[in-house]
Amino acid sequence: MTVHDELKATIDSLVDGRRGILAADESSGTIAKRFSAVGVESTETNRRDYRAALLSSEGLGDFICGVILFEETLGQSDRGGTPLPEVAAAQGILPGIKVDKGKGPLPGAEGDMITYGLDGLIERLREYKAQGARFAKWREVYPVSAHNPTELGLTANAEMLARYAAACQSEGLVPIVEPEVLMDGNHSLERSATVNEQVWSSVFHALNRHGVILELMLLKPSMVTPGAELPSAEPQEVAEYTLRSLRRSVPAAVPSINFLSGGQGPEEATENLNALNQLNNAPWQLSFSYGRALQQPALATWHGKLENIEMAQRALVKRACMNHLAMLGKYRDSLEGEGYG
Ligand code: 13P
Repeated sequence: MTVHDELKATIDSLVDGRRGILAADESSGTIAKRFSAVGVESTETNRRDYRAALLSSEGLGDFICGVILFEETLGQSDRGGTPLPEVAAAQGILPGIKVDKGKGPLPGAEGDMITYGLDGLIERLREYKAQGARFAKWREVYPVSAHNPTELGLTANAEMLARYAAACQSEGLVPIVEPEVLMDGNHSLERSATVNEQVWSSVFHALNRHGVILELMLLKPSMVTPGAELPSAEPQEVAEYTLRSLRRSVPAAVPSINFLSGGQGPEEATENLNALNQLNNAPWQLSFSYGRALQQPALATWHGKLENIEMAQRALVKRACMNHLAMLGKYRDSLEGEGYG
C-alpha cells in the first residue's frame, strides 16, 4: 500500500457519517486532576484499568470509530494481556495517539501559548505506527483576551500545526489538527466567532504552505460559544455562529470536522452538535471528538471501584450513542431517560 492509500483507508474508517472519536489522551497531569475529582489516585494501574474498561465497553464500536490515546496507554495491555490498541481495534475502533508534548507561554507574545514536540517527531511517529496507531492529534491552545491571540500567536501556532500535520502525512498517519480557542473568560459570542475565524484562516494558510493534503486530515476545532463566565448561548445560536464561521474559513476539501467539548457539559455538547447537524447546510461531516463530554458520566459512576465498571461502561456508551444521534440531527433530550437508543 502506498502512504496515500494508507491515509485514505484511515480516513474512510474515521469518516462514516455516523460515528465519532473518543478523546482518552489526557496527559499524566490532566488525568490526575480528573481522577482526583472522583477520589481516585492516579497510579499506572488505575489509569490502565480505567482506560481498558472504556475501550472494552460493549457496543462502543457502534458509535465510536477512533480513540485518541496517551503514549503510556499505547504501550499498555489489559489484565488478560491484550495490548490496549488491540482491545480498541477488536471493536472496530481505530487507535490514534496524541503526539504533542504540552504547552507553555509563547515568548514575544504575552498571553499566547505554544505547544512543544516537533523535535524527534518523525521517529516517534514511526514507533507509534509500529504499535498500532493509525492517526495522530496535536493541540494548539489560544486564550482569548482583548489582545489575544496576537498576530504572532496566530502565525506561530498555525506553523506548528502545519509542520506536525505534514510530518504525519509523510509517515502515513492521518493528522487531527486541533486549534483550541479556550472558553475561559467573558468574551462575547461575536468575539469568539472573530477569533475562531482568525485562527482557522491562519491554520489553513499554513497547512497549504506546507503541502498538507486537506482531504486526508481532520479538523478538531472549538465551537463558537460565549466565554465560560457568561451564560451559555442556545444551541441554535451556537450552531448558526459556528457554521457561519466555519464556512468563512475552512475549505470544503476537509472531510470531517470533529469538535472538542472544551468544558461544555455532556448534554450541552450533544445538543450543540445536534443543532449544527439540523442546520443541514455544511460541506463537511460534523462529528465529535469529545474528551470530558463523553467521559464525565463514566468517571463519576466508576469512582475507582471494580463493581461499578459495568455501569460506567454503560454511561460511556450512552453518551456515545447520544452523540451519534446528534450527528444525524436526531437527538432529543427525552432520550436521556432510561431505555435510550
Ligand atoms: P475535551 O472534549 O474535554 O475538550 O477534550 C478534547 C481534547 O482532546 C482536548 O485536547
